[in-house]
Amino acid sequence: MTDRGLGITVTEHLLREQRETPYATGAFTQLLNELIVAAKIIHRQVSKAGLVDIFGSTGSENVYGEEIQKLDEFANRTIIRRVIHTGHIAAIASEEDADIIEVPHQYPTGPYILLIDPLDGSSNIDVNANIGTIFSIRRRIKESGPVTLDEILRKGSEQIAAGYFIYGSSTMLVYTTGKGVHGFTLNPALGEFLLSHRNIKIPKRGKIYSVNEGNYYYWSEPIRRYVDSLKEKDPAKGKPYTSRYIGTLVGDFHRNLLKGGIFMYPADTKDPKKPRGKLRLLFEAAPLAMIVEQAGGAASDGHRRILDIEPETLHDRVPLFIGSSEDVSELERFLNDGGSS
Ligand code: AHG
Ligand code: MN
Ligand code: MN
Repeated sequence: MTDRGLGITVTEHLLREQRETPYATGAFTQLLNELIVAAKIIHRQVSKAGLVDIFGSTGSENVYGEEIQKLDEFANRTIIRRVIHTGHIAAIASEEDADIIEVPHQYPTGPYILLIDPLDGSSNIDVNANIGTIFSIRRRIKESGPVTLDEILRKGSEQIAAGYFIYGSSTMLVYTTGKGVHGFTLNPALGEFLLSHRNIKIPKRGKIYSVNEGNYYYWSEPIRRYVDSLKEKDPAKGKPYTSRYIGTLVGDFHRNLLKGGIFMYPADTKDPKKPRGKLRLLFEAAPLAMIVEQAGGAASDGHRRILDIEPETLHDRVPLFIGSSEDVSELERFLNDGGSS
């Protein structure tokens, strides 16, 4: 099918993928289309955030004890409302909700479980920096009945799709269904996401590292030595690396996906309530790990492949090292055998 000069829309791309995947029903395509509608609604709210009362906090806290921003709540509600009645969902799990969100009995259900970080980078909402939405789609284990936690607390390697929207200078959708990673840019005039980055591959090694250096004295010694090694003068190894940190995982991840590099959120001793770091396994690390591996990169907790980790609870946190494969394996050498650069 030619793209008639308009550019290939995400719907056309999905239908093409669907034709090439015998078992794929239209369900996934419909589900992703509803997520796209939700993202357009969130994008509209984000782009006028300074003008309407969507800034600031709701005054309540989420399960992590973090203040829920109004846009967090708006994004969460918008996504749930769009997908809950599609008939393709068995349940939703959200970073913003303590428990599994069941499909009301008046709606039909389907085989998919949707997991969302509805708004990633909340601390950046009020300062007009990149923010995003992360989603992960899994197939339920049981045929029917209410979804139980054991159907969700499973390895990330079982995800059937993962993606993110990034709201910034342009709004993009990046997703994978296990057949490569594709990027679509929203053409606001048309209201269509058009294929802009076909089959994204992350460079084997980058020259960018992304980490909150403010936590330096709370990291373990090997992490400090690894980050210090990136600052050494070693032109043969492209060092010193450049430091780039937005403070929005989706923004830092997306830049490194395109340019190469490593993003780190190590376990730190700063907050005893977060011994495993800040990022969530099911809602942030696992979906981005599927994407980065599909793009030829790697994602680890420093010792294990993220996609091999089985969660213990819905809101498990995990240290995250993700990006170019050679950078992640160099980091692992520092952690596992006191390796040097
Ligand atoms: P969220 O807004 O969904 O809670 O995610 C925020 C996360 C992630 O986006 C980012 O990488 C990290 O918080 C930044 O944390 P620090 O401010 O501690 O560096
Ligand atoms: Mn997040
Ligand atoms: Mn969030």
